[in-house]
Amino acid sequence: MCGIIGYIGKKQALPVLVKGLRRLEYRGYDSAGVAILGESEKGKVERVRSVGKIDNLAEKLKGQDISGTIGIAHTRWATHGGVTEDNAHPHFGCDGKLVLVHNGIIENYREIKEKLGDKHTYKSETDTEILAHLIESHYKGDLREAIEHALSHVRGTDGLVAMHADHPNCLIAARLGSPLVVGVGEDEYYIASDATPMLTYTKKVIYLEDGEVAEISKEKMETFNLKDEAITKCVEEIEWNDEQAEKQGYDHFMLKEIFDQPTVFEDAIRGRYNLEEGAAHLGGLNMTTDEMRSVKRVILIACGTASYAAMVGKYAFERLAGIPTEVDVASEFRYRDPIVDEHTLVFGISQSGETADTIAALREAKRKGAFVRGIVNVVGSTIARETDGGSYIHAGPELAVASTKAYTNMIAIMTLYALQFGRLKRITPATGQRLLKALREIPAKMNEILDQSDEIKKIAEKYKDYKNMFFLGRGINFPVALEGSIKLKEISYIHSEAYPGGEMKHGPIALLSEDFPVIGIMTKDQLYDKMRSNIEEIRARKAPLLLIATQGDEGAKELTDDVIYVPDTMELLEPLLNTIPLQIFAYHIAVMLGRDVDRPRNLAKSVTVE
Ligand code: F6R
Repeated sequence: MCGIIGYIGKKQALPVLVKGLRRLEYRGYDSAGVAILGESEKGKVERVRSVGKIDNLAEKLKGQDISGTIGIAHTRWATHGGVTEDNAHPHFGCDGKLVLVHNGIIENYREIKEKLGDKHTYKSETDTEILAHLIESHYKGDLREAIEHALSHVRGTDGLVAMHADHPNCLIAARLGSPLVVGVGEDEYYIASDATPMLTYTKKVIYLEDGEVAEISKEKMETFNLKDEAITKCVEEIEWNDEQAEKQGYDHFMLKEIFDQPTVFEDAIRGRYNLEEGAAHLGGLNMTTDEMRSVKRVILIACGTASYAAMVGKYAFERLAGIPTEVDVASEFRYRDPIVDEHTLVFGISQSGETADTIAALREAKRKGAFVRGIVNVVGSTIARETDGGSYIHAGPELAVASTKAYTNMIAIMTLYALQFGRLKRITPATGQRLLKALREIPAKMNEILDQSDEIKKIAEKYKDYKNMFFLGRGINFPVALEGSIKLKEISYIHSEAYPGGEMKHGPIALLSEDFPVIGIMTKDQLYDKMRSNIEEIRARKAPLLLIATQGDEGAKELTDDVIYVPDTMELLEPLLNTIPLQIFAYHIAVMLGRDVDRPRNLAKSVTVE
């Protein structure tokens, strides 16, 4: 995810900014850049950008005489446009006086570009550069006013910091969805996407809220809402050290990433559907309507957690689009001589986009003539480059080895693809609208579950010393059981297995005893009664029982004391909610057992070997 750092004060800005960029490296990036409002020549902004590591940028800056006490800098994680120097921030308007850095996504950038007309010339493929030109078009001598006016035309998320050559003692920062923090020093201010790059200098911070614009000089900071009314802000003291700041105060990246889910879920779906039409539009699919109609079979190829997300995706493709869909574990698919033809659409699903087996499987599918597309998190990764289209899941960098937020966003994207095909083939606008409304409610519902983290921790305490566990689910909740099981085993090292509820009595039930707990996903879906019967069978064997149940299902409490309630949603979307308590459960157990939660033994984040 992109990072921002800006400085205004008495120090030379360049060293502060370069050091700040290094502190932001943990967020993940593919290029970086810096702009300084020069002192020597009035009205001159110096900009230097580079692809790759901050070291490359530092190398380019060596020997350049760039002095100035105001500046902005950025680490970019590509979303619109490839990884090139031209696409790296900061971006200028036409006259080279206005310059800005930006985090977020501008959904209506094409519309804005069209409205701006051909008076403006662009040097990059980014939405941010269009924003710079939009602000420039509103500029009549007052930079803050121009930004406020421009933002009223923008749809999407923004966190931006801008400066202008005609305003040598001014930085403007605006937040609309993308976080910004101001660090307060002695006659100096820092502004960044999180507190990490400023902690060396100050622990006093002001958090900007959505819809707030700050005008910052060396001497003072004033904050306004988008109606230009002044707002009083409080200075807060943060206790975090550098490492805690990277994790936004969470003890581990995994916990932070679990809690990121509501926000990044919105990033995944934003701008990719039309509620009125009850339809989804994932532009990256890169297929004509005729090609889409010609698809007779979908194959979802992935490994590990991504393959469990794919198992959920299978339900979406079959139910919404009526297309027979298979899930193939990449390492099996590639050696199986799979039957694939020009009527087959193959999606490779991968957080890293670098998983060796998935890459090889996709190459095989391509060789055999299928449409091959990617559903990937890391921009510019091998899968993103080698497929003929697809979508980024916009989960932001996932640093903990155990995948959490990438899983939920993969499901979000597959659901939207299924809707896109479904609206072409069989489902009505009303059905599409119902699904989209339910999808939009997911972030708030995720938050309701996250709020229960402390209660889930108490339950985890009761289960932490068992040596084995079963995870049971049926239908669309069987992949949830698989995902709950892999999370537990990979970070706590407790042995666990996942089974479809109906399979228990075909063998595994022999293992059950008072020492072998079962975690059952028993939410109110079409298989609720069947699952409840399976749970009764488990109770009869006296196995300790933890249930994930739908809010209001008091009957679940009759079966066990340990119930985690989740909000109700459409059956197709249940995995987006039901998996979260299992992530939290695994996390707390692993912490209590003293495991290295973010870097579990024997595992790598990106499995680039077979
Ligand atoms: C489990 C986990 C792994 C990955 C798998 C695929 O928490 O992280 O099972 O899901 O290695 O990785 P990607 O998605 O990068 O292809």
